[in-house]
Amino acid sequence: MGAEKTCSACYEDAHHLCLTIVFSPYSNPFRGSPCPFILGADQGMATGSRIEDRDMMGRVALLSWGMGDLKRVLILGGSGDAVGLAARVADLPGLRVITSLAGRTRQPLVTSPHTRIGGFGGVAGLVDYLRSQSIDLLIDATHPFAAQISHHAATAAATVGLPHLMLIRPAWEESSGDQWRSVDSHAAAAAQCAQWGGRIFLTIGRQELAAFAHLQDHWFLMRMIDPPHPDAAIPPGQVLLARGPFALSEERSLLQDHGIEAIVSKNSGGAATYSKIIAARELGLPVIMIQRPPMPRGDRATNIETALSWLQQHR
Ligand SMILES: NC(=O)c1ccc[n+]([C@@H]2O[C@H](COP(=O)([O-])OP(=O)(O)OC[C@H]3O[C@@H](n4cnc5c(N)ncnc54)[C@H](OP(=O)(O)O)[C@@H]3O)[C@@H](O)[C@H]2O)c1
Repeated sequence: MGAEKTCSACYEDAHHLCLTIVFSPYSNPFRGSPCPFILGADQGMATGSRIEDRDMMGRVALLSWGMGDLKRVLILGGSGDAVGLAARVADLPGLRVITSLAGRTRQPLVTSPHTRIGGFGGVAGLVDYLRSQSIDLLIDATHPFAAQISHHAATAAATVGLPHLMLIRPAWEESSGDQWRSVDSHAAAAAQCAQWGGRIFLTIGRQELAAFAHLQDHWFLMRMIDPPHPDAAIPPGQVLLARGPFALSEERSLLQDHGIEAIVSKNSGGAATYSKIIAARELGLPVIMIQRPPMPRGDRATNIETALSWLQQHR
């Protein structure tokens, strides 16, 4: 086989391993140094070399080699647990982590240096991604209410034959002094609002506000990270842009200052947004609690430590 390309790292006729690879002259970390593939071949290290990243032109920007046993972990993110897990996995030898985000928030919390953003294009797109990126392990650390991507992930992992874990933090449970009204949908929560007063703290993010837009006799304090889309139907009230975690004292003041009579919340679980539930308990306010959608069957972890143990077992 003759060389078809010239390697822009070493400017030699491409080595056998470079036949289909054009290095990016801008982002190739080996620029100015001897071609790693030639070095690798000389030293018997090239086996297992892998394309790790491409630049905007689709050219190879980063390669690893001599790490044939490196396992590639895809973490589906969008939750605080995903951020924490990615940071911990990055410290583990033998694993390379890629985080995937849907792209909903303008300034997502990201700790993984390798992050892709945007939907995959359904199950078929995710299957293609898992195969083309040689993903070895899939961890679904999306928010407990992101049911569609979780079902897609379970189906795609089964199709490709990948070990798959769902990292799902435990749901909150009603405690003594709580006044919860549990419902199973946003529409059902809206139906409950009429019974619980006119000034309501709506802490469901921005995606489902339309379910409350018909409640024109109510006033809503609507908390979310990014503002609603300008064309979105939203109920009357005030938008409050904020990202947790929230301190108990702040939550207590917020409820009192706005004369809140009831709270609508998803049962997201976790500590970051639990203080509003404690504040409601202290103030004797009812909480309309939207229960979680069903998740697929499969391996589950309820915290980062358990997810790390699962990873260790599958390395
Ligand atoms: N729902 C919530 O209350 C909530 C709260 C906080 C954070 N989030 C985060 O926001 C994201 C979107 O939530 P959602 O409720 O719209 O989810 P969803 O209904 O389950 O997913 C809708 C679509 O968004 C894409 N998607 C979702 N998560 C993705 C990820 N991590 N990487 C790549 N694509 C992803 C997928 O598109 P394709 O079909 O094109 O692949 C998916 O089919 C999730 O990642 C979730 O973790 C959601």
